[in-house]
Amino acid sequence: MISILIGLFSLVVCQGDIQTTVQTDFYKQLLGAEPKQYIETGYVTLKDLEDGQTAMGEMFYHMFLKQGTMSLDQIKQDDILVIWLNGGPGCSSQYGNFQEIGPYQIIEESKDKFKVVERPYSWNKLTHQLFVDQPLRVGMSGAKDGFVVSNTETAAKYFVNFLRILYNKHTILQRTQLYIMGESFAGHYIPAISLQILRQNLTIVNFKGIAIGDGWTQPFQQFSQYASYLYTIGTITERQFKIIQDDIAIGQNAILDGDMKLAYQQFDLLSDDKTINMTGRINVYNFRKYQEQDVEDTTHEKFLNFYLKTQFKAPNSKTVFEGCDGPTYDAFALDIPTSRKGDIEILLKYNIRVLLFNGQLDYIVNTPGAVMWMSQLNWEKIGLWKNTKKEMIVVDNETQGTWKQYDNFIYATIYTAGHMVPTDNPEGAYAMLDKYLTIKK
Ligand SMILES: *[C@@H]1O[C@H](CO)[C@@H](O)[C@H](O)[C@H]1NC(C)=O
Ligand SMILES: *[C@@H]1O[C@H](CO)[C@@H](O)[C@H](O)[C@H]1NC(C)=O
Ligand SMILES: *[C@@H]1O[C@H](CO)[C@@H](O)[C@H](O)[C@H]1NC(C)=O
Repeated sequence: MISILIGLFSLVVCQGDIQTTVQTDFYKQLLGAEPKQYIETGYVTLKDLEDGQTAMGEMFYHMFLKQGTMSLDQIKQDDILVIWLNGGPGCSSQYGNFQEIGPYQIIEESKDKFKVVERPYSWNKLTHQLFVDQPLRVGMSGAKDGFVVSNTETAAKYFVNFLRILYNKHTILQRTQLYIMGESFAGHYIPAISLQILRQNLTIVNFKGIAIGDGWTQPFQQFSQYASYLYTIGTITERQFKIIQDDIAIGQNAILDGDMKLAYQQFDLLSDDKTINMTGRINVYNFRKYQEQDVEDTTHEKFLNFYLKTQFKAPNSKTVFEGCDGPTYDAFALDIPTSRKGDIEILLKYNIRVLLFNGQLDYIVNTPGAVMWMSQLNWEKIGLWKNTKKEMIVVDNETQGTWKQYDNFIYATIYTAGHMVPTDNPEGAYAMLDKYLTIKK
């Protein structure tokens, strides 16, 4: 009897170690008013994938329930939960939280004195939100000394373990429908995580769909449009066009040869000085900005660092918050040129709803490159999708972008936006989300 109990007990411990902190009152102070939703942060300890024993790190999440939901037990059947992931590889999803789609923007009133203001187009008007810092060690998340995740597959397995532990702790989340959304290198993470959810039959999450903005998913085709994109926007000459085309060809051949190191170097080159200097130094995430122009507001980084140990209860392994983690980026070098197109094809077959979208001003993950690879999706309905008429996304009589949908696959473009679509065009991005979530099946 005793041994059975011990057995059960250790199973429970294995199931997950999770530490949660209710943050609603904290944000109430920062806002100077009653928050419109329940807020929580937490750390989930994840075990080694092989031995299932060794603690490898603590994965951080920041949760905001949908506006009007004041406690976890008010979550209703079939409410939508959106998990948001930023890319990098190695960047914190708290960027998405505080600079893109979360309910609050951070303001530094004076040194180390912060307040928050409400974001008018917060996506949590429509859904519950969960911003997760992954892989382990990225952003607010901690990791065992020296542990760095180096590929998408491993990251996805840890992430699914995170989900399992969180949903077993907060069983009420099992009522919701899950959509996983994100940006940039999340074009790798999200397809891989989705596939893990299907493979591991993780039905407790009630997984319904994905949305990826400016996603890095199929590098071979995404390389192909760099020269023509720059040429079309009038930033390079014909001679420069040829130079860049040659660099693209080296990168593409490297992918075909399986030489991911060279492919990565070429990618680096196409987004770095040699290429960008030809353009007069555009910002690769939004060509209407200059390379040196400080486009990223980093106030939230100061805020997270200031409250790292006190309010957010970061584990011992986390001593400083950084927006992006260099060692993780470097470790992923050989993963960056790999393709996740096959994962998207499986998701479409399994009737998972897939939205891909692009900001029109983004060079690094540009629209023609995206259209190129998705036109080649091995999906039985791709021809029907291609023949489907586009709709316009219109807000207050102003066009914000386009929407092309057939069945469970949608491609949208958003105007006046670069890589960080919701930051640059909040109205357009919000209208797109609303349209996506209200599709009738
Ligand atoms: C997946 O899990 C569900 C619910 O637990 C179960 O009914 C179903 O048979 C499982 N499917 C597979 C393929 O394991
Ligand atoms: C690109 O331009 C910058 C700024 O003018 C300069 O410092 C740098 O050396 C240039 N790089 C190359 C590879 O030409
Ligand atoms: C949009 O255009 C229609 C037709 O011209 C007009 O009736 C309506 O008032 C306009 N709406 C807004 C919000 O401008």
